[in-house]
Amino acid sequence: MNIAVTGSQGQLGLSFRKISASYSQHRLFFAGRTEADITRRESVEHFLDRSRAEVLINCAAYTAVDRAEKEQSAAWLINAEGPALLSHIAKERGIPLIHFSTDYVFPGTGHQPLRENDPTSPQNTYGRTKLAGEAAIKESGCRGAIFRTAWLYSEFGHNFVRTMIRLGQQGISPRVVADQIGSPTYAVDLADAVMRILEQPLDGMEIYHYSNEGCISWFDFAHEIFSIAGFPGKVQAISSAEYPTDAARPAYSVLSSQKIAHKGIPILFWKNSLRRCYTEIESLSTVSFR
Ligand SMILES: NC(=O)c1ccc[n+]([C@@H]2O[C@H](COP(=O)([O-])OP(=O)(O)OC[C@H]3O[C@@H](n4cnc5c(N)ncnc54)[C@H](OP(=O)(O)O)[C@@H]3O)[C@@H](O)[C@H]2O)c1
Repeated sequence: MNIAVTGSQGQLGLSFRKISASYSQHRLFFAGRTEADITRRESVEHFLDRSRAEVLINCAAYTAVDRAEKEQSAAWLINAEGPALLSHIAKERGIPLIHFSTDYVFPGTGHQPLRENDPTSPQNTYGRTKLAGEAAIKESGCRGAIFRTAWLYSEFGHNFVRTMIRLGQQGISPRVVADQIGSPTYAVDLADAVMRILEQPLDGMEIYHYSNEGCISWFDFAHEIFSIAGFPGKVQAISSAEYPTDAARPAYSVLSSQKIAHKGIPILFWKNSLRRCYTEIESLSTVSFR
């Protein structure tokens, strides 16, 4: 199949690029914002024509959660209107759309892993714009899947793991919130899950939750990163009240990946995936972390 990937310069887009060689039965085509702007019809159509796309995977998004509170229209354009446009184009062409959403569509008040049909109620602008993107896709009637994921990290781009490693290298002992609970997701695992789902028929528009296995706090996550890297510094646990941010975060947003697991997709344990990512970061770095 010819698979067109938008948002290819982001961490998830780069993760698809990384694993593409393992799926040599498919041809993947990649476009960053300059080659395919998801808010501009001609730009997207041109990319899909050029790649003769039979599947569209959209990794493009506005992901600056705090900045979105001040840049609401930019976030809306990219997270709500962009996916709406892509879903109309996909529907017109009769090709499936794979899109990504977030645990931040949930209010974060529960204590049980969240399932796909649990009630949504985003607490910040980013979550509201992502939920609007989901709704537009469902309304368009196009086929495919929406993957809600959480705490995405990888060896690429800006993410929590790379930030913690940078701080550890600088000998800084970070203060990290211990009262927000979720599940991290290695972007390479998510990309792999998507490629496996593409082997199965995509009839309706399904929502799937996908994160690595485990329920942890950001503090636990940082602590494990420091431990794997062997940094001498200590991570300090703090409360969300001690770390105010522009956007509110859900206190509990663990995703249940049971539905996708029933499709035969492996759900990997968070510590194992973190180790794999750390090895990749170390091999890409010219600086030794120890
Ligand atoms: N990161 C997380 O923790 C997290 C958690 C849950 C869900 N998700 C979801 O997972 C998906 C992938 O996230 P990610 O972490 O890979 O994001 P990312 O690293 O921020 O990448 C997003 C990419 O989209 C591009 N983009 C922005 N506007 C665009 C436009 N109009 N047309 C084309 N490309 C555009 C960005 O380009 P520029 O750099 O030029 O702006 C960037 O390369 C997103 O749907 C996100 O909402 C992420």
